[in-house]
Amino acid sequence: MILVTGGAGYIGSHTCVELLDAGNEVVVLDNFSNSSRASLERVQQICAKRLTVVEGDIRDQAGVEKVLNDFGCTAVVHFAGLKSVLDSVTSPLDYYDNNVVGTHRLLRAMQASQLKRIIFSSSATVYGDPKFLPYTEDHPLNPVNPYGQTKFVVEQMLRGLFASDPTWSIGILRYFNPIGAHESGLIGEDPKGVPNNLLPFVAQVAVGRRERLNVFGGDYDTPDGTGVRDYIHVVDLAQGHVAALKSLDQPACFAVNLGTGRGNSVLDVVKAFEQASGRSIPYSVQPRRAGDIAACYAATDRAAKHLGGWQATRNLETMCRDHWRWQNQNPNGYGG
Ligand code: NAD
Ligand code: UFG
Repeated sequence: MILVTGGAGYIGSHTCVELLDAGNEVVVLDNFSNSSRASLERVQQICAKRLTVVEGDIRDQAGVEKVLNDFGCTAVVHFAGLKSVLDSVTSPLDYYDNNVVGTHRLLRAMQASQLKRIIFSSSATVYGDPKFLPYTEDHPLNPVNPYGQTKFVVEQMLRGLFASDPTWSIGILRYFNPIGAHESGLIGEDPKGVPNNLLPFVAQVAVGRRERLNVFGGDYDTPDGTGVRDYIHVVDLAQGHVAALKSLDQPACFAVNLGTGRGNSVLDVVKAFEQASGRSIPYSVQPRRAGDIAACYAATDRAAKHLGGWQATRNLETMCRDHWRWQNQNPNGYGG
């Protein structure tokens, strides 16, 4: 039985599908602060299999221990946390509470239950301003906002834990920019309010919920002047977790990038989404967004080595097509 914290969220729900499809039993622990139960109903529909849902908070150590023991969990895939860079600047203590204190309580609960296998959702944001590209896992870590700093602190906590007890198996996965949706169109990203991220915004313009895209910066030192990112299909990312879980059979503590190794600009994404959706995406170029970097993409060799040859296989066209199917079939997300 695998405990998936935050399993009702965007990446968690896609990972539950891949875990169930690979024959695992799954219990999800989620407080639904940024998700709904509907995603988990859809996961079960896609897989034609059941999973167990427990409403609860990772900060409740006794509650987590009870779940681990009641269900005989053998590993934890840990997604639960807050993820908005902008909110983390205005509410840093909420971020430290959910992400750092929450993970600390989860690890305490695991320790008390003698369970020592965990996959942790980290982020490329731990690298900070690029000293060189692609980012290798040895690139210096220098996160520049509270969200990234919480990921950095948790990574350090995990490394310290492993140093103290090398019988742990710890996989730290640094995600680049997950986009797309399950090809069924049944699950996908459902952000609350105005999306901060590019793809949900573009998709809402395409579906007619928003008038135009603001492109943040047209004067970067990139081929077309707009920001370049390493977009990765969320199903590739989810499959990376299944591969990572297998590698936890040996005690280890490793950090790997999950990306494609390729960079695409904002305008590449707009073009690809227009093609995928058959809709035009009006946009206007605005000043740069504070805190953004020009370009960001992953070195992928280490992931392939640690994750049994795993690599991302889906291209930008597939990412946009699948993202659009989800948006078009669910114009208001899980809200109907
Ligand atoms: P999400 O918000 O869709 O999912 C997070 C889930 O955790 C939600 O279902 C939420 O209700 C739950 N949750 C939050 N705090 C909780 C708590 N204290 N106790 C129990 N449940 C809690 O986010 P996502 O995009 O699926 O991201 C999952 C993880 O991956 C996060 O840790 C995020 O920081 C990390 N990550 C995401 C991205 C991205 O671009 N989406 C990039 C890098 C890293
Ligand atoms: N962008 C726009 N208009 C928008 C939104 C974004 O032009 O409305 C641009 C940004 O300036 C950037 C690119 O699109 O050049 C991607 O921006 P996102 O906000 O989608 O993604 P970021 O790379 O800024 O950050 C995301 C997550 C972080 C995570 C990071 C990992 O939000 O949490 O990827 O690389 F840490």
